[in-house]
Amino acid sequence: MPLTLTVPTLQRQQNFIDARWSDAAEGRRFEVRDPATDAVFAQVPDSGARDARAAVEAAHAAFAGWRARPNRERAQLLKRWHALIVEHQHDLARLISREQGKPLAEGRGEVLYAASYVEWFAEEATRSYGDIIPAAVPGRRMMVVKEPVGVVAVITPWNFPAAMIARKIAPALAAGCTVVAKPAEDTPLTSLALVHLAEQAGVPPGVLNIVTASRQRTPEVVDVWLADARVRKISFTGSTPVGKHLARESAGTLKKLSLELGGNAPFIVFDDADVDAAVDGLMAAKFRNGGQTCVCPNRVFVQDAVHDRFVGQLAARVAALKVGPATEADSQIGPMINARAVQKIEQHVQDAVARGARVVVGGERLRSARCDGPNYYAPTLLVDADSTMACSCEETFGPVVPVTRFHGEAEVVAAANDTPFGLAAYFYSSDIARVWRVADALECGIVGINEGVLASEAAPFGGVKESGYGREGSRYGLDDYMHTKYLCWTGS
Ligand code: SIN
Repeated sequence: MPLTLTVPTLQRQQNFIDARWSDAAEGRRFEVRDPATDAVFAQVPDSGARDARAAVEAAHAAFAGWRARPNRERAQLLKRWHALIVEHQHDLARLISREQGKPLAEGRGEVLYAASYVEWFAEEATRSYGDIIPAAVPGRRMMVVKEPVGVVAVITPWNFPAAMIARKIAPALAAGCTVVAKPAEDTPLTSLALVHLAEQAGVPPGVLNIVTASRQRTPEVVDVWLADARVRKISFTGSTPVGKHLARESAGTLKKLSLELGGNAPFIVFDDADVDAAVDGLMAAKFRNGGQTCVCPNRVFVQDAVHDRFVGQLAARVAALKVGPATEADSQIGPMINARAVQKIEQHVQDAVARGARVVVGGERLRSARCDGPNYYAPTLLVDADSTMACSCEETFGPVVPVTRFHGEAEVVAAANDTPFGLAAYFYSSDIARVWRVADALECGIVGINEGVLASEAAPFGGVKESGYGREGSRYGLDDYMHTKYLCWTGS
């Protein structure tokens, strides 16, 4: 089915380098597939080293002019970009749903979420204050100023094709940095459309550049950026192995890094919790984007006294979820992104069952007249999960809820922290002393307390341990794109 947009020119299928839409230098292209049907519906440039270098040349040349602009001018550009994203929200949602598979209403939610970061950083741009430090030596003045780091390479994932690129590009531009970007190979079109809107908002030549590349050629593009000393920062959202590779390989030029990597979020329901609220919270947190979210609960721990009630309520809610293509208005869960993703989910469920878990709902692929494609997986509830199972050790990144019964607080906190990851954690309790204790004890960057929906442009998003470092969103998010410079001045 062709993609129909109200403004067809939003469907860009070229790179944008130095204010020109262009094909890859070697003329190669790769196919973009609809995850609902696996049918090819677009083709974009399969860029390589020459394109990556051209993007850096343009961004480097534009940096001096862009950083010299008054912050307020940069803010105004971001405000125009924000307004255009909101104006085109329906088309952008159609692009997201087509290339990523999330239901249309959720796609529109993502567009507004992306826009909220652009608006936030338009406001923050005007507030990148420095400091005056009282000097101990007479006649001396000590000042701190903030400066943009320089050219930033932005590498984004497929699960939120609008929000992830917006929350990296917006603070970079606000800070006065210039950008070279590469979206995920599964979902390039939303990012290209956003860059097109930034162009319409008046982004100067070279300030924002984007190249697309297939899975096979992505290393060629990224290697150029890693080796180039003019690229001063990399901001990456994706897997922990790739994040570690970027950290190792950027050491040669000591780039600043923001790494938002994998999670393995625990979701704990204590026996003093409001069980109805906990079920609502889990449904919202787990099934957002079909479970393909870094902050999704991956391990659910429920205390003895409320276990059966919680599981009973959850089973009814999971069984009632409507799965289907984004085009069906009542779809709540779309297709998974690709065949590899479905295989991983399938392996996790099979492994859990082989190790003693019981399937309460789902547990298999879906194929029907409505789910007429290879990438649908049934929303699944497992009980009797334990820490030996793959679904407890790695992100499943799909609509699977493995529930583990627990007895005491110390035991569950130890289990929650027993992972190399530390992005998000959730718990439900009405005991105030426990709330403080457990919030303090959880090793992670984000904690949901009696709350399943954590995302906000005003809050710092990021992890600890092998979930990475750096923060996105909030006032901390701007700092990640700036240096702190100390001026020590002796004079009259
Ligand atoms: C992510 O999955 O990496 C982002 C989720 C969010 O922004 O809430």
